[in-house]
Amino acid sequence: MTEQAKLPVAQLRVGDQELDLETMAATAGNTGLSIAPLLKQTGLVALDPGFLNTASCTSQITYIDGDAGVLLYRGYPIEQLAAHSTFLEVTWLLLRGELPTAAELEAFEARVDKHMYLSDDFRQIFSVMPRRAHPMATLGAAINMMAGYYPESLDPKDPSAVSLATVLLLAKMPTIVSYIYRRAAGNALLYPKHGQSYVENFARMTFQLPGEKFEVPPAFYRALDTLLILHADHEQNCSTSTVRLVGSARANIYMSVSAGVSALSGPLHGGANEAVLNMLAYIRDHDLTPKEFMEKVKAKQDGIRLMGFGHRVYKNYDPRAAIVKQQCDAVLDALGVKDELLAIARDLEEVALSDDYFISRKLYPNVDFYTGIIYRAMGFPPSMFTPLFALGRLPGWMAQWREMVTDPTAKIGRPRQIYMGETGRDYVPLEQRG
Ligand code: CMC
Repeated sequence: MTEQAKLPVAQLRVGDQELDLETMAATAGNTGLSIAPLLKQTGLVALDPGFLNTASCTSQITYIDGDAGVLLYRGYPIEQLAAHSTFLEVTWLLLRGELPTAAELEAFEARVDKHMYLSDDFRQIFSVMPRRAHPMATLGAAINMMAGYYPESLDPKDPSAVSLATVLLLAKMPTIVSYIYRRAAGNALLYPKHGQSYVENFARMTFQLPGEKFEVPPAFYRALDTLLILHADHEQNCSTSTVRLVGSARANIYMSVSAGVSALSGPLHGGANEAVLNMLAYIRDHDLTPKEFMEKVKAKQDGIRLMGFGHRVYKNYDPRAAIVKQQCDAVLDALGVKDELLAIARDLEEVALSDDYFISRKLYPNVDFYTGIIYRAMGFPPSMFTPLFALGRLPGWMAQWREMVTDPTAKIGRPRQIYMGETGRDYVPLEQRG
């Protein structure tokens, strides 16, 4: 906290006690109110379930203005990065804070390219896990396993170890995700090829069939790269906060990222893209009109939600969703795919955006609403959508973890609670219990 940023403007009265609480001005967005002295001086703790109103850190990586539908990575609008950049360039930007020079980018791409290979020993995890295992379970396990394979890259306080771990994770993740898919499909695992781009290698290792060439239009690679860029970071969301929390205990980056994978697997977070496709298929298979489905959602019947709608931070159209929606037609056209689920999605969106239930709650499409349709057109089954999200989110997790381990003010994360259970009572022996 810089001295300049500290302005004692907030007063809190607790009984006859008055407390000055410091505020911290942000460069953009909400000003922070420091409640650090609250417990010590008043005995009170802040209660904020779901952290709706709590900043857990200061950060210079990603900025979201949820009301205006703005997303910036290191100050650059997501629209510009999606239109002009590449996933590895954006990764560098998130990790280092500046766009790379041409020489820096070339060296970075070459370093990643060199490490995409997974040893035969490591590859055994894909045959040990049952074929029906959810890909996110295997992904989390494989990333954890990396901590065992690369002990020289574990020390969070050693910058060269952290740099190596960052490159290893980035390089091996597409190989791991493609192997998870191939194992489930019963196909042999392929090797990465030097000289292919990140997304070319990933797509070929995923989809190439024995004896066949893997050929897709350039729009396929461009769309895949763009989707990865759109997912690359999203400030302190559930999985990123998990990565930071685990890392705050000085757990290594692999263990921290693996914990992020676990958080991302939930249907309210990364699992939503898979849930959207399942929802669209359900509507088609049950011959429901969008309006009929919407009635179920609004009645909160069986807890049904319109998946791919709503966001904790965006109370406006998610800027990522707008980019994905624009891309959807172009990609499907380029791949020659017609998808009846796209028509259902469009109808649902139209109904929702003119329905008071959604308008009054500021529920708009989020990034997951249309991504699944593109992934499906590319040939990915729904169970692979969340691993694709993880592949995209990896740079953000690592950038946030790295920011935390180098932040001198960071502390081990340890929330308080408001205890509502029994107070002290005596143990009753088993034979005396009724
Ligand atoms: N469909 C129907 N109602 C909804 C939805 C939805 N998708 N989202 C929120 N609501 C309602 C909710 O029932 C509540 O209504 P009421 O005021 O009557 O109780 C109100 O809107 C506020 O909901 P909330 O759950 O308190 O909002 P939140 O900020 O805690 O939740 C969310 C955000 C993303 C978990 C939620 O909107 C949701 O469950 N959406 C569907 C799942 C989804 O698409 N998740 C992907 C998020 S974007 C990608 C990512 O970051 O992982």
